[in-house]
Amino acid sequence: MMKKRLFIISNRLPLTIETTDNNVTMRQSSGGLISAITTYLKGSGKEFFSEKIWAGVPGCTEKIWDIANNEHSPADYNYLPVFMKSKMYELYYNGFSNSLLWPLFHYFPSFAEYHSSYFDAYMEANRSFADILSKQVRNEDFVWIHDYHLLPLAGMLREKFPKLTIGFFLHIPFPSYEIFRVIPKQWQREILTGMLGADLIGFHTVDYSSHFLSCVEMALKTGHDGQHISWENRQIKVDAFPISIDFDLFNNAYDNTKVEAIRKTYLKLKKDKKLLFSVDRLDYTKGLYNRLKGFKKFLLANPEYHGKVVFALVVVPSRDSIRKYAERKKIIDEFIGNLNSTLGTINWQPIIYQYNHLDFEQLIALYTTCDVALITPLRDGMNLVSKEFVASRKDKQGVLILSEMAGAARELTEALLINPNDTDEIAEMIKQGFEMEKKEQEERITAMQERISRYDVNAWAGDFLSQLKEVKDVQLGFEIK
Ligand code: G6P
Repeated sequence: MMKKRLFIISNRLPLTIETTDNNVTMRQSSGGLISAITTYLKGSGKEFFSEKIWAGVPGCTEKIWDIANNEHSPADYNYLPVFMKSKMYELYYNGFSNSLLWPLFHYFPSFAEYHSSYFDAYMEANRSFADILSKQVRNEDFVWIHDYHLLPLAGMLREKFPKLTIGFFLHIPFPSYEIFRVIPKQWQREILTGMLGADLIGFHTVDYSSHFLSCVEMALKTGHDGQHISWENRQIKVDAFPISIDFDLFNNAYDNTKVEAIRKTYLKLKKDKKLLFSVDRLDYTKGLYNRLKGFKKFLLANPEYHGKVVFALVVVPSRDSIRKYAERKKIIDEFIGNLNSTLGTINWQPIIYQYNHLDFEQLIALYTTCDVALITPLRDGMNLVSKEFVASRKDKQGVLILSEMAGAARELTEALLINPNDTDEIAEMIKQGFEMEKKEQEERITAMQERISRYDVNAWAGDFLSQLKEVKDVQLGFEIK
């Protein structure tokens, strides 16, 4: 098979560029998407693509980019930066993407803000991506577009490249039509027809796929056969691809010497106390407030645990220039201060709270020291933290409490599943988690590990790209050689 060029497109380039007085450094960042794709391309996908190009917003000026890229560009990809005026970026990213699509698609319709300036900037930003890509792509390339920032992009590229192979994957939930329909009609059309520019449209779960199909049916009056839509003389496939993690990376990290050393310190601090752990970005979708309320109820109902349990709560700063995010921080800070000061004592602080990033080794040390991981999103497209926690437990111990509103709950059925709005249930499950027999912990973790290791990142990316090729082959009526 002739090798193709692969374009990966996401809002952000997976790079961290730092400038000090007289120095610019650039390194690859470590998000879920970059690690998923890189792992696949270095492993089973190695022979399929001749060149890998990643396009996205670099988060620096053109001048800094030129210096950084010439001197320090990491080798795995060629990077195609998309520069935008800061006002436009603000309206597209903080505005339409994160103050309308994000809350709405996560079932927070009352948080959604509708401004035509947001929508115009969103379309304009997508056009900037399309213009830059149009100078580079050729009909025979593969293009893989990611996430809600870029819903109309496939349609824009399709106008210029009728034969281009385009895949689109959504990393957040796709809501039911009852939610989607609150978007102004013309915007609904632009979003859906834009997505239909792709040949393969992927979601984390079958529920999100079927919501998308019914939105197409209702808003565009276009039918489907359960998985395929005929649109502008093309057969488009819609399917579920639950994203995963690099299972071996997390599983093997248990024995990493740095992780072992950190774990030793944590175990010393923990002594005979039970450790509850959670980590997420600061986001109203993550259910942090209910989680804290559930923990408080647990403490109030179980005084015998006072002084014998610690909740390590790590919150990673995120989108803090958006009001709803900044407000959330205040609410969480106040709740924790209040709980620690009213239930805690001079010798015991019930919650240890960190509002900062965690590095990989610290993260694994916490995953593998804690007794219970408490993950309670009100809505989550997938939730990779739950999969990382399970994978890192090489000792086959530990209990996962997981919200049934996370996409991951469909696969991690041996977790203690909770409704994140039921704080009494959260409290009960914390107790049940602390008191679970070792044998049962092992059985549950083992079953979940088997499932995650079978469909890991390699399988996810490989599955998506091979289905994309098949769909294109069927469309073109012959095998692409
Ligand atoms: C979610 C989205 C990603 C996004 C990430 C971090 O997981 O699906 O597309 O990159 O959050 O958010 P940020 O706004 O910081 O890129």
